[in-house]
Amino acid sequence: MKPSTTPFTALTLAQQQLDVLDANLLRRRLKQTQSPCDVAVTVGGRQLKAFCSNDYLGFANHPKLIAAMAEGAERYGVGSGASHLISGHSQAHDLLEAELARTQAEHIDEARALFFCTGYLANITAITALAGLGLQAAKQNAGISIYSAKLNHASLIDGVKLAAAQTKAAVHLFDHTKLADLNNMLQADSSSHKLIVTDGVFSMDGDLAPVADLLAIAEAHDALLIVDDAHGFGVLGKYGHGILEHFQIQSDRIVYIGTLGKAAGVSGAFVCAHKTLLECLIQKGRPYIYSTATPPAIAHTVLASLRLIEGEEGQARRAHLNQLIAIWHHELQLHHWQMSSSMTPIQPLVLGSNAAALSASKQLDEAGYWIPAIRPPTVPEGSARLRITFSANHSTQAVRELIAELQKIEALVYTASETKAV
Ligand SMILES: Cc1ncc(COP(=O)(O)O)c(C=O)c1O
Repeated sequence: MKPSTTPFTALTLAQQQLDVLDANLLRRRLKQTQSPCDVAVTVGGRQLKAFCSNDYLGFANHPKLIAAMAEGAERYGVGSGASHLISGHSQAHDLLEAELARTQAEHIDEARALFFCTGYLANITAITALAGLGLQAAKQNAGISIYSAKLNHASLIDGVKLAAAQTKAAVHLFDHTKLADLNNMLQADSSSHKLIVTDGVFSMDGDLAPVADLLAIAEAHDALLIVDDAHGFGVLGKYGHGILEHFQIQSDRIVYIGTLGKAAGVSGAFVCAHKTLLECLIQKGRPYIYSTATPPAIAHTVLASLRLIEGEEGQARRAHLNQLIAIWHHELQLHHWQMSSSMTPIQPLVLGSNAAALSASKQLDEAGYWIPAIRPPTVPEGSARLRITFSANHSTQAVRELIAELQKIEALVYTASETKAV
């Protein structure tokens, strides 16, 4: 049969969508790397200095973890073969979950942990299953409410949307810097089951959620507090246990989520909560129940990463990261681009328009740097930015060279625009 020359509807719609993205400078492009994730990366045959990964501790290409991955594959093979509740749950998963629970044991009473393929999946599972706990009461019109921080990561936003669609929960957004408003909203809420959902470290800004204050509000209104510490686990706290260790918080109403593909350098995520809540995730968390288990070799590698995170090497790497952050704040002087007060390895420079962020990213590329422009919907409209991230593998000199380059580019861009305006 001859192929039709007129495009079918979906193809036309897809092309229209791509045209709109192009017109708004919002089309994203995949870039292929030809070397491991590290601070120097080969991209399209060129070596670039990367300041854009979430490999904060520089573990993604660590020889001990490469050896652990090989050992894990030798011991357990390369695939799990099935979902956890069928036959995919191995000894490696159990060993890892016990160790992950130990990292939060001082902060969550009767802590138990569950390992997931990705943070996205962990968030969707946790929010839908935990919102679902209120379904019985909601049938008697008692209602479910979810309070979600406005700047939460997309995976939390999607988890909240899915939970609302499944449970008819009412969704309220809150500003994590204005907790009195959150308190007032909860005060007026008569729902019988309430969740508060927040990033631990806000992924595009680098600031910390005020977890102690959020917990106080959760306690006052009998809500469950879900903290996604994707960017805090491995980075915050003396032992790298994350934001609860950092703030020395202890409660059984916190559900802690950490990811393992960022500072831990490998892949996956975990949810840690009181053992009764966690058992409900296993029983009711559909994305968990219906996904093939992560290869046990990955769990085995994360276990090795955990030893590095907690040990002397992890502690030294966190101290070095803090030194890089201090240099950044003391030495970077910008006049137009907005710096952040973030004290984490996430250091955004907000440029505003998509065009400005794309242009700065291009000029950095020409100078040998890899720092993509971050645009909506990842960040709010009008706040396109360079999201600069540090890794413990960056030297102090590398950070100083980046500072000099950024100052040069900012001055050039603004001299050019002022000349044009005259
Ligand atoms: C705050 C936050 N939560 C969750 C995720 C998703 O984690 P994963 O990449 O493991 O799916 C990310 C990923 O960037 C994130 O930034």
